[in-house]
Amino acid sequence: MKYLFDTANIELIEKYANKLPIAGITTNPSIIKKEGKIDFFAHFAKIREIIGREKSLHVQVTTNTEEEIICEAYAICDRIDKDVYIKIPVTVEGLAAIKELKKDNFHITATAIYTKMQGFLAMEAGADFIAPYYNRMQNLDINSDETIMAFADAISRYNYSTQILAASFKNMGQVNRAIECGAQTVTLGPEIMLDAFKMPSIAKAVNDFHADWVKTIGDISIDKL
Ligand code: E4P
Repeated sequence: MKYLFDTANIELIEKYANKLPIAGITTNPSIIKKEGKIDFFAHFAKIREIIGREKSLHVQVTTNTEEEIICEAYAICDRIDKDVYIKIPVTVEGLAAIKELKKDNFHITATAIYTKMQGFLAMEAGADFIAPYYNRMQNLDINSDETIMAFADAISRYNYSTQILAASFKNMGQVNRAIECGAQTVTLGPEIMLDAFKMPSIAKAVNDFHADWVKTIGDISIDKL
């Protein structure tokens, strides 16, 4: 199981990406918009510097035709690095670009997936990851769970190397369901992940343990005994 942060916020990435078991960063133009008018390549170079080469970095194209998408993919890999996963929306043009870029061994994350057919075709085109949009599908009364299960089933039935990178989450319940339905990877905003630790009972348990230790042994840590 892999967990990614769906953010371009340097401060949050710096604070949490190496503390929590995070396997990478995903972004899209709307996520970038939240950071204001950034210096695109410098911003992503900084993110790469923070997360290192072990974690994956997924950067989305901004254009819509096969030719333009391919040009952007080359620019991203030339000016950030060749390990970047190019996020390409699954349209007819997007699929054409995915097929071409896979011939040149680009890493591809097929995104903006709302329908089963988009996911199936992206697997067949050779995408490394497919990103079904959990919350957005639910908003349209599409069964996100069933869609993810169908993807997991197709991957194992036809032996695709594609992995499901479920995205578009608004709460922890959605993330948990996507995992239970077979997503091997999920990407979520750091604020959603941090919600998992916010329950008052968690802080109380931690404080009670500490207080019992101090009362019994003293205000000294094990390594200082
Ligand atoms: C990530 O890859 C997706 O682009 C993102 O999760 C979409 O999220 P949204 O539905 O909150 O915009």
